[in-house]
Order: sequence, then C-alpha cells, then structure tokens
Amino acid sequence: MYDRLQALFRSVYQREPAAVARAPGRIEFIGNHTDYNGGTVLGAALDRGTWVAVSPRTDGVRRFYSEFSPTVVTLAPGEIGKRSGNSSWVNYPLGVAQALPFFDLKSPIGFDFLAVSDLPAGAGLSSSAALELASALAFLEVTHQSASREVVVKVGRHAENQFVGVPCGILDQGVSGFGQKDRLVFIDCRGPRFETVPLPAGAHFWLFNTHTKHALVDGLYAARHRECMESAAILGVDLLVDATGSQVEAKRVDLGEIRWKRARHVLGEIQRVEEMVACLQKGDLVRAGHLLTASHASSRLLFENSTDELDFLVERLAAMPGVFGARLTGGGFGGAVMALTTGAFGDRQAQEVAAAYAQRFGARVDSLHAQTGDGANVVTPGERSESKSPEQ
Ligand code: GLA
Repeated sequence: MYDRLQALFRSVYQREPAAVARAPGRIEFIGNHTDYNGGTVLGAALDRGTWVAVSPRTDGVRRFYSEFSPTVVTLAPGEIGKRSGNSSWVNYPLGVAQALPFFDLKSPIGFDFLAVSDLPAGAGLSSSAALELASALAFLEVTHQSASREVVVKVGRHAENQFVGVPCGILDQGVSGFGQKDRLVFIDCRGPRFETVPLPAGAHFWLFNTHTKHALVDGLYAARHRECMESAAILGVDLLVDATGSQVEAKRVDLGEIRWKRARHVLGEIQRVEEMVACLQKGDLVRAGHLLTASHASSRLLFENSTDELDFLVERLAAMPGVFGARLTGGGFGGAVMALTTGAFGDRQAQEVAAAYAQRFGARVDSLHAQTGDGANVVTPGERSESKSPEQ
C-alpha cells in the first residue's frame, strides 16, 4: 500500500509526500446502535484500511485526490463549503481539518492530500472513520503536533458529526484508533473509555458484503438516532443507557410502538455486550455465537435496520457447521454480515453461501476471511517498516 500511495502521490502532485498515515476499518462485533445511546460496544480493527499522504503548501490551497474518485479537487484558501456528488469523500478530510481547532490543535494552512484504501466502501466496515483518523494523524504530523489516541478518535467523530452531518457515536473511530491485532476493542461510550480484550484462540471472522445500501441510509440512521433520543426524553433520562427495562415497560403507552421497540433493542443489546465480555473471558465461543445471532434478531425485529439480504445470510450462516453465530455489522440498512466461525469454516463453505445468495437474489456476495489488525498510526516516509503510534 505504501508503494502504491507514494507512486500515485508523485504522479498526481509531482512531489514527495511529507507524511503518511494509515487507519484500519473495523468490524462491529456486538453492540448495534448502542454507542450514541451511551452504551457499550465491542469491535475489532481489520488488517485493511485507508492510507493517506499529505504534503503541506504555504499558499493556503488544498488539493485532494483519491482512488475513490480520481480527479483532483482544489479548494481555494479559506474555502470550506461541503462537497457533494463524486467529490463528497473530501468532506471527511476537510471535516477533520475543520475539527482540529476545536481540540486546540492547528490544521495545516494548505496541503496536497491523497488517499488509497483496500477496504470495500459502503460495506459497513467504516471506510469513512479510517479516512478520518488517517487524515488527522497525517495533518498532525505535517504540523509537528502530537495528540493522544483518544483526542485523535474524538477529532474523527467531531468531523463526522459536525461537518459530514452524520450523528454517529464513537464506535468506528474508537475501534480504528484503539484496535490491536488479535484483540477486540471494548468501548464504554459515555466516558468514553477504551479497553481491549483478547480474542479467544480459535475464533475466526468471516465477512459477507452484499454491496447493497439503502438509498436513504443516512436519513434512516439519523431517524433511528432521533427515535432513541425521543425515547430517552420520554423516559426522563439523558441517554437510553440510564433507563431500565421496567421503566421502558411502564412507559410503553407513552413511548408508542416504534420508540418502545428502539429502547428495548438498545437495552437488550447493552446487556448482550456485557454477557459477551464474560463469554470471551471464559472462551465460550458457543454462547458468544448465540449472542451474535440474538443481536441480529433484535436489530431485525426491534431496531428494524436489517434487510432481506442480511437476514438471508445470517439465517443461512447460523445453520452451518463451523459457524458460532452471525449478525449484521455496522449501521445496517444494507452492508455486510459478520460470522464468528471455527477454523473449519473455509473458502468452500463461503462459496456455498455465495451460491445460495446468488440463487435467491441473483446477485453477488463477496466473502472475506477477515484478519484483525492494529489501530491507526503514522508511517515514517522512506522507512515504511517503522511506524509511530499516537501517544497513549
Ligand atoms: C455506524 C455508526 C456507529 C454506530 C453503528 C451502529 O457504524 O457510524 O457510530 O452507531 O453504525 O452500531
């Protein structure tokens, strides 16, 4: 990836990158839509992600180029308007540059910026958080500043909430920032507080990307966020994490059917994350798998963010030997399904799933035996084996 990034940077800008940073995509392991409700969540960083190269400019001009949309987008000094259409990806690095001053950090005045990625976009694997974190680290590097991992994570979320305009929680950025190979990231989102827990030996992840994305996905995400906040207000708490199951039942009429379902999902999901942590400590992957499949059922029936394609995959996978459990991963309304499997689940089984999917939907599903990886870091130019992590 480093060589590809450097070669592309030279050919697009006729100069060398001054700073290179990478940040991984993530799997949401369990804890669907719990993050912005102040709950807990578990995720894993992938060994794939987004790489960013930046060189500063003194004239205030900012130029952006990526493999996602190969035309140079040029912003005049001081120009900060949000982009749309093919160049809307620029909103992520631009949002990060806008966010830095909110954390008492400087943004580079001008720069040439380039991004490449080996993450499938739109698969619910957080290619956008990876782009945000890699951008933040590269901007800090070219301005000779350092920040803690936690601040870098918060800068990414700020960019997404305030500039891109998605009311997401801290899951994606938190896992991309704090991920570690062979470990899961546990986030208590209200703090936020980040920890890692070891992945039990013999646990494997398979991802099935449907390439489907609901046309209104951002609007649907925002609607779920709003429904959760309304539920919390009716229950008289700041965030749903502070409500209890009996309060939700007592206020069922006031909540109405939709908000009652959303609240039940969030509380049930927080409970499952807690149980999952205990399962992981005991290495009980069988029970872990049941929790994953129960999480999916709750997303499907109560949070209503699944699709026929995702349901089909989960049902099919959960019935196969070698699969502990499966669920949608990420925001939902399309994207990918994640399965927790034994080492016995392999390409042959994945192809079986793909064939059944093709027969049912007449479409392709891509599978990936996902490997966990480390969180975001700066890669020193010219010494690509050496890398520098943000301060802890
Ligand atoms: C998206 C958001 C996250 C989280 C998940 C659902 O990935 O970016 O903040 O809310 O959906 O759990």
